[in-house]
Parts: sequence; C-alpha cells; structure tokens
Amino acid sequence: MKRKLYIRTYGCQMNVYDSARMAEVLAPLGYVATDTAEDADMILLNTCHIREKAADKLFSDLGRLWPLKARKAHSGGTLVLAVAGCVAQAEGAEIRARAPYVDLVLGPQTYHRLPEMIARLARGEGPVLDTEFPPEPKFDFLPAIASPQAVSAFLSVQEGCDKFCTFCVVPYTRGAEFSRPAAAILAEAERLIDHGAREITLLGQNVNAYHGAGGDDEIWGLGRLIRALGALPGLQRLRYTTSHPRDMSDELIAAHRDVAALMPFLHLPVQSGADRVLEAMNRGHTIDDYRRTIDKLRAARPDIALSSDFIVGFPGESDADFAATLDLVREIGFVQAYSFKYSKRPGTPGAALCGQIPEAVKAARLQMLQDLLDTHQRRFNEACAGRVLPVLFEKPGRHPGQLVGRSPYLQWVHAAAPPRCQGMVMPVRIAGIGPNSLAGAVEVEEVTA
Ligand code: 5AD
Ligand code: SF4
Repeated sequence: MKRKLYIRTYGCQMNVYDSARMAEVLAPLGYVATDTAEDADMILLNTCHIREKAADKLFSDLGRLWPLKARKAHSGGTLVLAVAGCVAQAEGAEIRARAPYVDLVLGPQTYHRLPEMIARLARGEGPVLDTEFPPEPKFDFLPAIASPQAVSAFLSVQEGCDKFCTFCVVPYTRGAEFSRPAAAILAEAERLIDHGAREITLLGQNVNAYHGAGGDDEIWGLGRLIRALGALPGLQRLRYTTSHPRDMSDELIAAHRDVAALMPFLHLPVQSGADRVLEAMNRGHTIDDYRRTIDKLRAARPDIALSSDFIVGFPGESDADFAATLDLVREIGFVQAYSFKYSKRPGTPGAALCGQIPEAVKAARLQMLQDLLDTHQRRFNEACAGRVLPVLFEKPGRHPGQLVGRSPYLQWVHAAAPPRCQGMVMPVRIAGIGPNSLAGAVEVEEVTA
C-alpha cells in the first residue's frame, strides 16, 4: 500500500542527508515522498537546535499541522506526526508534554529504528519517544542508497563532536565523535555515483576530525579518505564540511594540492578574531594558529577560497575584540561567510558566563560585520567577471533554456545550456555579477575539473 511522506528539514546539511536517509528507511513500508503536508499520511519534522527559537518555531509549526491530523482522523484515516533531529534529542520530554498529539519523537542517532517505531504505533503502543544514543551505529542498519540522486549529493562520514565549544549544543545533541569505516563510505560513494551524483560533499560536525578504520589495520584521516574517493571513476568533484581549524592536518592540506577532484573552497569557521574570545569559547587555537593554517593551505592550493562562521557578542566580547574580528576579515578576505549574534543555549557553559552582551550591541556589531563580509564577497564575485570558470550544472535555471550550477568556489552560475548538460562540468565565461549568483555563457566543450 502506498503512503505519502512529507518531510520538512530545518538547519544544516547533515539534516538534509538524514532526511534523505529517513525517506529510504521508510520506503520499504510503502512511504513515497510528497511536497505537500495536506495530503500526507506521515509528516516528519527534522529539526535543528543550533540557535535560539528553534523550539518556538517547532511548536508553532506543530500548532499549524495538528489540525491536519484531526481532519484525517475525522475522515477515518491516520496521519503519523513525527519530530526528529536535534530539538527532539534535546527537548524530547518537553515535546511529549506540550504536544501530546505527536506520535514519534526520535533523535538523530535512532532513525534506523523508524520501522520498529511505526510498528509499535500500529500495535497501539504509541506514542514513542526514542532519543537514546544506542551502542550500535545507525549506519550499520541503513539501507543502501537506491533512489536517483541529485547531481550534488551529501555523504555523512563523521558525526558528533568532542570539542565542547562553550556556545554549542552539538556535543549534547549529536553525541560523541564517531567516524564511519572507510570501506562503508567508499561503497556509499560508489552507489551515489551509480545513481547520478557527480559531486559529493562529505559531511561531519567535525568532518576533518575524521579517523575511520581503513580496512588495512590503519586509521585513516580525512586526507587519506579524500585521496581514495578522488580516484573513483565518474566522480567529478569533492568537498567537505564543516571543519575545525585544529584538525587541518598536513595530510589533509596536501590533499588540496594533489587531488584534482577536491574543490578549491574551504569552510573553516574561526568564530572570532580575538584570542581571548577564542579562549572563552574553548576553541583550542589562536588567531596565529589560524593564520598559519591558511598560509599552508594557500601554499598547497593558491586559488583556494575561504569561508567562515562568526559569532558576535559572545559573553565578554569587548569593542577591541570585535574590532579584531573585523581586522581578521580584512586580512584573510573571506569570499563568503555566515555570521550570527551569540544566543544562549540551555545547558552550554556559555549560557552561565557573566558579561553577557546587550542585544542592541550584538545587533550593531552583526550589521557592521555583515556589511564588511558583503563587501568582500562582492569584490570576489566582481573579480570573476571575464574569467572562464568550470561549472558543474546541477538543475534547470529560472528561465527556459537555462541551467544553473556551481563554480569551484561554490558560487551559483546561470548560463544558457541544453538539458543534456545537466551533470556535466562546462567552461563558462562569466559576464554578469548578481548579489547571489553569477551569469555567463558556455564556451564550447566539456571540461573535467
Ligand atoms: N549562538 C550563535 N551562533 C551559534 N553557532 C553555534 N552555536 C551558536 C550560538 N549559541 C554558530 C557557529 C557555528 C554555526 C553552525 O552556528 O558559528 O559554527
Ligand atoms: Fe560545536 Fe565546537 Fe563541536 Fe563545532 S567544534 S560542533 S562549534 S562544539
């Protein structure tokens, strides 16, 4: 019997990966994806807990979805309402108490058990709360990739974090660091490629802390894994995210020099430009360490473009500390970045620190930082005008006859191209520079970068 599954994904790319895997776990039960909540037999909200208001947003979304469940019951049907992800992990009991009509509450490490949870519901044993950190890794129980893949696919190689930055909930919601064995990752990559992927982005909360069993009695680091993946036929591009500055090993940096498929773009969050803030954040590195890493990366791959995350208004951040962040942005010249006002996360050490910064100060600092980051991003995009960039076309563009794809530096590029070019890397001469994307024209035949 076919049943319709509606998944809404919040937050990071790992949640996008997890949502796709949950859909695959549910497929043997007859669940087929739908884009509309209104006609669904199961609604699954895959939540994110990284910043404030996540739970508020969840409860307001649940409030809107609840009537659908009542309506379905009224017409003799059943709608299964499930909350997964990091809010479920952190606030499962609260969800059960405030939204008792939710049928399933499950954390990021237990979704391989979804069929069992649904069977319990069917037996009338529900609702189900499963936010354990089970001893068995979920990856051992997930079905092999079997559905068509987008040109650009995600692959989780590492999960969890042992770093305990004082602002961050991830070590509590995703659990301890875990790396998948290299053989399982290579097998999944081959299946992704067989099912249409041409680019793979390796995912992990601390992806460059990867240390998986290599199958040769050795532990592989991310650099070694990337070398092996870079040799897979049919794979045009590799990326990885999110990295920690402390784990940029020489082996990984050398992969940027040696592996042609590895794109010259790195998201390497620094969070702040001031050593005393980095220390209070428990980041475990200084600005000088960060600088040295960037120097090594640029020596290995001179055209590498850098991106970062920033938090402004961490407790105790002075005007001078914030000015140091602006200085670092000018010095490194990030081509893209995400920046946030610090928000207190329950249970993290940062929430209890004195010296919390007033909201208005945080807002003003964020505005200044974002203006500066925008200037750098614009400058980088403008410098691409007239250049020929290899673009991996991913999907149809907004206008007929157009495709849209990514440059090596992760910029979206629109160009006139026939549909058969989807999934191919083509040389595109950049002519137009928009605020969020570039436009250009394809210059004859296919390239392979
Ligand atoms: N407040 C503000 N930003 C945060 N981030 C993580 N936790 C917080 C918080 N409590 C940001 C960091 C991280 C990104 C994913 O989210 O910059 O790198
Ligand atoms: Fe959070 Fe820090 Fe771990 Fe990143 S390294 S997931 S910011 S605790």
